Amino acid sequence: MFALEVHNLRKEFFRRDATRTRGRKRRRRVAALEGVTFTMERGECVAILGQNGSGKSTLVRLLSTLLLPDGGSASIFGHDVVKESRPVQRLVNRVSVEASFFKKMSSEENLAYASRFYGMPPSATKTAIPEILERVGFPVGRRHEGMEHLSRGMQQKVALARALLTSPVLLLLDEPTTGLDPRSKLEVQDFIRDVWASHDATILLCTHDLREAEVLADRVGILDRGRLIALDSADVLKEEFEAETLEEAFFAATGRTFEDEKDEDAERGVFA
Ligand SMILES: Nc1ncnc2c1ncn2[C@@H]1O[C@H](COP(=O)(O)OP(=O)(O)O)[C@@H](O)[C@H]1O
Ligand SMILES: [Mg+2]
Repeated sequence: MFALEVHNLRKEFFRRDATRTRGRKRRRRVAALEGVTFTMERGECVAILGQNGSGKSTLVRLLSTLLLPDGGSASIFGHDVVKESRPVQRLVNRVSVEASFFKKMSSEENLAYASRFYGMPPSATKTAIPEILERVGFPVGRRHEGMEHLSRGMQQKVALARALLTSPVLLLLDEPTTGLDPRSKLEVQDFIRDVWASHDATILLCTHDLREAEVLADRVGILDRGRLIALDSADVLKEEFEAETLEEAFFAATGRTFEDEKDEDAERGVFA
């Protein structure tokens, strides 16, 4: 059985447009994901590389049952994300850039809340919470401080700690290091590697950091304007696209430079 099986997955959004036709605002269709198909083995770490707007977060939200697809299917350890959302929610854990917390509550309280949701007994969380905070490099002495007083890097560590507290089987990491300072970034990457090695976790890592994809993942997927146009080990991708670096391979595959952070919507097949 695959840890993750995605078949022809589609998602589109409609958005109000500023331009008007006969006095009326037009609605634009944005195809966020188009026919995405791939599988992951248990224990694998797959990175999905894509620029802003390429569909990474949409993919992660569909897999974590936060969004419903418009077509195709996805299953996690054999459980359909639409029809069996409850077991899927127990198997996956999402860490996103915009990690959501109860801002007035402390990191410890947020973790305790999450552990209840996943059905952990309070006795087990009492020791587990400080332990896991320590492991992610969070200053344990600050675990009673409100989340709103913590830096982004620290909040990100708490988000990872929360994902790990409940021993996730499939970790969905949506740009876990974006916006972190270089040092926190390395710490978080080390930690991801550590967890992967010690937890028998399967990891889907969405990133727009080439190096992160290359050092952490078994296979790297290239998501471009909602389409998964390649998925292979970094070495095979380089060979396939006759590139020296992953960056060159990305360019060869998409026709666009990677660092370029402009909004993809302008180029995407968007229409009224
Ligand atoms: N809730 C939404 N409503 C309208 N459009 C959306 C919504 N979420 C995402 N999109 C659009 O879908 C596309 C993919 O977005 P997203 O999955 O967030 O990309 P990424 O995470 O790779 O930056 C973009 O064009 C984005 O503007
Ligand atoms: Mg995103």
